[in-house]
Amino acid sequence: MESLRIITEEHQNLWRIATTLDLVADEIDAGGKIEAPFFTSVFDYIEQFMDRSHHAKEDEFLFRLLRQRSDEAAAVLDRLQAEHKNGPELLRDLRAKLGAAASGGENNAAFTTALRNYTQGLKGHIRSEEKDAMPLAREVLTADDWAEIDKAFLDNDDPLFGGKARAEFRELFHRIASLAPESIGLGAHSAGTLQPGAAPGVGGDVLLSVKGMESCYGRIKALKGIDLEVRKGELVALVGANGAGKTTFLRTLSGVQPMSGGQIMFDGEDISRLRSDLRMRRGICQSPEGRQVFGPLSIEDNLRLGAYTQPKGQVEGDLEKVFSMFPILKEKRALPAGTLSGGQQQMLAIGRALMGRPKMLLLDEPSMGLAPLLVEEVFNVVKTLKAQGMTIFLVEQNAFAALAIADRGYVLETGNITLTGTGQELISNEQVRAAYLGM
Ligand SMILES: Nc1ncnc2c1ncn2[C@@H]1O[C@H](COP(=O)(O)OP(=O)(O)O)[C@@H](O)[C@H]1O
Ligand SMILES: [Mg+2]
Repeated sequence: MESLRIITEEHQNLWRIATTLDLVADEIDAGGKIEAPFFTSVFDYIEQFMDRSHHAKEDEFLFRLLRQRSDEAAAVLDRLQAEHKNGPELLRDLRAKLGAAASGGENNAAFTTALRNYTQGLKGHIRSEEKDAMPLAREVLTADDWAEIDKAFLDNDDPLFGGKARAEFRELFHRIASLAPESIGLGAHSAGTLQPGAAPGVGGDVLLSVKGMESCYGRIKALKGIDLEVRKGELVALVGANGAGKTTFLRTLSGVQPMSGGQIMFDGEDISRLRSDLRMRRGICQSPEGRQVFGPLSIEDNLRLGAYTQPKGQVEGDLEKVFSMFPILKEKRALPAGTLSGGQQQMLAIGRALMGRPKMLLLDEPSMGLAPLLVEEVFNVVKTLKAQGMTIFLVEQNAFAALAIADRGYVLETGNITLTGTGQELISNEQVRAAYLGM
């Protein structure tokens, strides 16, 4: 039932987009300007991702088999599929109303009204699929049915649903998040590029091996003997509730928090007693919890600080690479970092870590406190970095989103690792679902 997880994840993305459109409609009604490139990027995404791929997959596989297995399915599916069919038409109408509104001032209300109708329809559609169609599918579809559906959803070579298409959708989504107004997105004038470069294959060698790590605050032991491993090219998630010890683990790993027991091997070397700046020089670079950018310093200087352990000669080139990924940082490079929005500061914190040329990138709750659109965007950035071959250790309270993109995960509870497995195994684990996913 891997396919159901994918569909639900896609529903979450679409829901975030719908919520975002509602917020922007509010801003326009309150006198805000219509940003045509932003809406065009949203409509392009919906057309290519939702209408052409997401709905097509549901129609061709899930709904077809559901009709065969259940007589009562028809009533629900007839309506849902009529809505699928109607989608492109509604989108054409929205594009026309956007054109009219963007050229004159008086058609704004017609546009925002149509926009709200559209998002309401979209949300109702998603709700009905989640509440009516998917429970029925769980009940009546056979193991063979699921195998057929899962195969279609996981086919990496499929021109419409496969890996290449997914990379294109990610790029389209990145455009939306970049061009969205600053209150909910990044607010850049240009979108930059998130396209992954050539990805070195996952090497499989162990890069980080932690054994029996302990760390204390006074007499309170916050880490009680942590064992974990990260391989080259892997994306590993550490999830756990607030106060579990996630940040303490990262700080102990990067050497800013004393380790009272255990051993850390990194890239074949015992770094347990190494100073934190030397660990950074070895390639352990962290984007800390709560961003912690230096507010009075310019954005550019914040980025340069991330490269202080690096040879001078590579800094300008690396700066341009970060700028091409996050154009908003380039637009605002001379401004104090404290003037950036939360989402922009998160991109700065990630960019600053990248300036240290990490062998392993540590991310501490990058999605914390961000608008829905930017939560998605941060995870897209993480996915893209992984596709470029980066080894990533991702710490999150947002367990579902983190495990959904992770190769493997660890669950941390009050200083102990209580569960480990692939991201998929943990997402489907009953204990995890009950504790973290609210399901
Ligand atoms: N500076 C500190 N002094 C004393 N106790 C701390 C300090 N920082 C964290 N703790 C305690 O250590 C435990 C783990 O905290 P933390 O690593 O921040 O968890 P998480 O990042 O998972 O939310 C918590 O019980 C917290 O109260
Ligand atoms: Mg924390």
